[in-house]
Amino acid sequence: MFPVVEWKNDKVYMIDQRLLPVEEKFIEHCDYREVARSIKEMVIRGAPAIGVAAAMGIALGVLKTPAIDDAQYKIIEDTIASTRPTAVNLFWAVNRMKKVYNDYKHDVPQLKKMMLEEALKIDTEDFEINKKIGFNGEVLLKSGQTVLTHCNAGALATSGYGTALGVVRAAVEKNKKISVIADETRPYLQGARLTVWELQQDNIPVTLITDNMAGYIMSQGKVDAVIVGADRIAANGDTANKIGTYSVAILANFHKIPFYVAAPLSTIDFSIPSGASIPIEERNKEEVLNFFKQQIARPETTVFNPAFDVTPHSLITAIITEKGILYPDYTASIRKLMEK
Ligand code: MRU
Repeated sequence: MFPVVEWKNDKVYMIDQRLLPVEEKFIEHCDYREVARSIKEMVIRGAPAIGVAAAMGIALGVLKTPAIDDAQYKIIEDTIASTRPTAVNLFWAVNRMKKVYNDYKHDVPQLKKMMLEEALKIDTEDFEINKKIGFNGEVLLKSGQTVLTHCNAGALATSGYGTALGVVRAAVEKNKKISVIADETRPYLQGARLTVWELQQDNIPVTLITDNMAGYIMSQGKVDAVIVGADRIAANGDTANKIGTYSVAILANFHKIPFYVAAPLSTIDFSIPSGASIPIEERNKEEVLNFFKQQIARPETTVFNPAFDVTPHSLITAIITEKGILYPDYTASIRKLMEK
């Protein structure tokens, strides 16, 4: 598959995920403000991919500003950081770039080189991390099993391979027969448009359902495990992910189906004790009033459109990371893992 975000000739390229799977169009970004707009408007989305795009956007801003100083850097940083509030990988990447800026700001030619190097490192590291998440997580799946997933936590949401879908890919690479049930994921349809598309590219069997079918399908014994990604994990394991994830977790719990979160350690926010402190992005009403550009309700309709929800740690069977699988008590297991 093509790179989701790529640095080429001092420009940033992204596949426009708003158009997939109907059209494969790449957008060129010559300015950090264009990168910020693309993150905000979901040309690129998915927590790890947002982090990589943010790092490249900041590198682009520094490279294209001849005499960069603290004031100009802050404008670039704030523009990138104000795009989407929930995925902590964005702020994690911003902090990594800030450290390099502080280390090299007195030597501008070296600063520009190091900022780019750091952004590219974040990109390649993310791919390797996903492979490790897959390797660690595939042991949880047996041949013949069916995995239900929500939203898109695949190659398109990362630098490649994916987190939740990375676990599926790793199992398939071990010759296990795994099939996937993809929730459509209203309102933005990441499941229908992106997850189904990328699994089809890899010939992994996938069945699309609408979000309200998950309970029935679980009651029929057709789901062996749920695996989702994460946008932010609090220190106690509470996990923010795409709206609807919480409902799926409750359904899985009721039907005694394991519910796994697959995410890199950069998704853990140690500064917040629980999910209650995770900022939840609210998006525009048009996403709910329309279905893939087709209007389905009157424009004056009152709409509530939270983009994420929080699944309490008590509903999560395990969290799969690049350093291993975490089990409850998450406060203790997360802390222990970070000390390794
Ligand atoms: O609004 P999106 O499409 O950025 O939301 C994406 C998700 O919720 C993903 O599940 C999450 O970022 C994990 S991606 C590996």
